Amino acid sequence: FTVDWDASAAEKGGWDSYMDKEIHEDPAAVSETLLGRFDAKGTLNLDEVHIDEDVFRQVDKIIVVACGTASYAGLVAKYAIEHWVRIPVEVELAHEFRYRDPILTPRTLVVAISQSGETMDTLMALRHAREQGSRVLAICNTQGSTIPRESDAVLYTHAGPEIAVASTKAFVAQIVAAYLLGLYLAQVKGTMFRDEIRHIVTDLKAMPEKIQWVLDTQADTIAKTAKQMLNAHSFIFLGRHVGYPVALEGALKLKEIAYTFSEGFAAGELKHGPIALVDAGEPVVCIIPSPRGRAVLHSKMLSSIEEVKARGAFTIAVAEEGDESVANYADVTFWRPQCPTLLSPLVDVVPLQLFAMDMSVLKKNDVDKPRNLAKSVTVE
Ligand code: AGP
Repeated sequence: FTVDWDASAAEKGGWDSYMDKEIHEDPAAVSETLLGRFDAKGTLNLDEVHIDEDVFRQVDKIIVVACGTASYAGLVAKYAIEHWVRIPVEVELAHEFRYRDPILTPRTLVVAISQSGETMDTLMALRHAREQGSRVLAICNTQGSTIPRESDAVLYTHAGPEIAVASTKAFVAQIVAAYLLGLYLAQVKGTMFRDEIRHIVTDLKAMPEKIQWVLDTQADTIAKTAKQMLNAHSFIFLGRHVGYPVALEGALKLKEIAYTFSEGFAAGELKHGPIALVDAGEPVVCIIPSPRGRAVLHSKMLSSIEEVKARGAFTIAVAEEGDESVANYADVTFWRPQCPTLLSPLVDVVPLQLFAMDMSVLKKNDVDKPRNLAKSVTVE
């Protein structure tokens, strides 16, 4: 009696690929990264970070250094932290950072975001920041890797090992860690009331369930749309506010694993050039903000989808459940549950991860190991 044992299939836990497994671990990545970071009263406790509260209180500027997907998590952080803490947050591609003589002081907190903790560009940026006298906090998914070891402090994401080259669950975990940092700074600097912070924490704790809802209810529509779009030569992704980094991430996923030319734009840029690309049938993915959030964001995004639709685009909306206004402009809608605008990237990105994966599978690409790419880029 023999049992056929495929170690790699076993590691994928029944999923077709690591990427498939890891997308389905998005909810757990969020809840695990939140776990143990609050006391019974809901006060945030970042003692593990080993930076004195007084030092955090003095921070007057944050610079996020990161590459690729991690840099898009940094962009989400910019919107949230600037809103909650009222200090400037710059987001810089790590490979550009040290060559432009950045302005760094002891009150600048440099946040290095990296899943692997081994990205050479990010490592060189953090070394430069420390040489100039700034403190570096790493947001990292890999215990004991080089970036946290060389940083002053580390806030670990608890997404678990990420094997697929295309980052998915690490992205949502990085965003959560960045929110935690922002809320902690707001707490120590007193820029928000305790109740406001508690409220956001409650909303954050509800996010894994909302992500699960997307995974459970939208997969069929997404798979059908991928089939329909299989021969598309290029994709345009549009977003505003926190929807902008989601657009960038959706486009990156599609480039990486479906090998389809795709580009993300801030929707307001459309009329400054990219709209010339829109032709009959061009697929345009629009991240529509909640109609219950800032009305101006929602209506501006609706105008953008309307503009591309009028030029014959095939429009795919990512929109909030119950938002009937998109029906007039979207050929297809990937729905996501209601949630506060600043937290929405955690759910908006999920259908785009699934979409890229489905496209890659249909094209018979190697989903987990796309051509020309490595999981961690250890050269400059
Ligand atoms: C993500 O899908 C990419 N593979 C890539 O952009 C990645 O996020 C980037 O290389 C940074 O890697 P890190 O998080 O390990 O530093």
